[in-house]
Amino acid sequence: MFNQIEMAPPDAILGITEAFKKDPNPQKINLSVGVYKDEHSQTPVLESVRQAESQVVAEQTTKGYLGIPGSPDYARAVQQLMLGADHEVVASARAVTANTPGGTGALRVAGDFLKNNLPDRRLWLSDPTWPNHPAIFAAAGIETKTYPYFDRENNRLALDEMLGALRQIPPGDVVLLHGCCHNPTGIDPTQDEWTQIADVLDQRGLLPLLDFAYQGFSDGIAEDAVGLRALARPGAELIVCSSFSKNFGLYRDRVGALTFVTADSDAAARVASQMKRCIRSNYSNPPAHGSNIVTTILGSDPLSKLWREEVDQMRNRINQMRQLFVETLAAKGVSRDFSFITAQRGMFSFSGLTAEQVDALREKRSVYAVRSGRINVAGMTRDNMDTLCTAIADVL
Ligand code: LMR
Repeated sequence: MFNQIEMAPPDAILGITEAFKKDPNPQKINLSVGVYKDEHSQTPVLESVRQAESQVVAEQTTKGYLGIPGSPDYARAVQQLMLGADHEVVASARAVTANTPGGTGALRVAGDFLKNNLPDRRLWLSDPTWPNHPAIFAAAGIETKTYPYFDRENNRLALDEMLGALRQIPPGDVVLLHGCCHNPTGIDPTQDEWTQIADVLDQRGLLPLLDFAYQGFSDGIAEDAVGLRALARPGAELIVCSSFSKNFGLYRDRVGALTFVTADSDAAARVASQMKRCIRSNYSNPPAHGSNIVTTILGSDPLSKLWREEVDQMRNRINQMRQLFVETLAAKGVSRDFSFITAQRGMFSFSGLTAEQVDALREKRSVYAVRSGRINVAGMTRDNMDTLCTAIADVL
């Protein structure tokens, strides 16, 4: 049987890290996968996580299963983190949250839920988007289409084209938006633009699905929820897929959440029951370790404070690298204006490098990036900046 199976192509993002690991060059640089690196090129365990983890291990009394949606304490903590404790959605109990294995797990359960409960709806993705989005929803049997998002010429949001396209989408379809730190462009709507987007979705009867994987990496924990808050207006329905891989540094512990905001608490109960069916036939119930760490941190004032400081540090380091990258390229005599990179937010920049230039960087200089030209700014350090910018100047 298996002799007939053909080799699958490597993953567009994770496949690059596989190749990176095999490269013997000691000066190799990995700017592909969205993983935070500190100034020593390490992905650290956050101190807040280390402390919470010790507490979790010391206090745990069982390894018995969690319920299908995970722990209610986690669900509450996630909703409060996203929306604030006093938000009307939280207070009126019209949201339900499940603990999922990572943001990817949340997206897949959302896809299964849509397929089972709202059949024939199409899902609209930004052009460009995270390459795994189309694959996840295709696996759930959902048809995907795209709407314009990025003005390549001017390196900014193509707002008019985006709004124009959203106005043409048939009512009832689902529109995926990136909550902040758009992956791959690093370009987000402003608060006013979010309001315009929310108005169009509302008028048109479209269901927003927010992929919220980088809260805290743009401007701050509360600031980065501005898009979510614009969408979560009174009575509005939406889906949020959260990831805590990046902001808690819990990549391998696979911690995410799927939240449905419904019109009222009655609808919330029915949605929760269908969501549980999707989870049960997928991974049955979630892993507890990572979500216990998140719940412990968010439930403790000192640990929360420490965590917020650590998120601030990660964000500030990335922004310093944006600045240094642009300055170092200019110092190397690169004439192309890269200053737009300092305006982009989050881990990623759409560098404007072509697929051929990305290939050349990898083959000649052991610098690894995604072929779309996306670079992970969090992979840059003061130590590798010179090597990196010399390589880019060379391929340009
Ligand atoms: C990325 O875009 O690099 C991250 O979201 C990691 C991943 O799973 O692709």
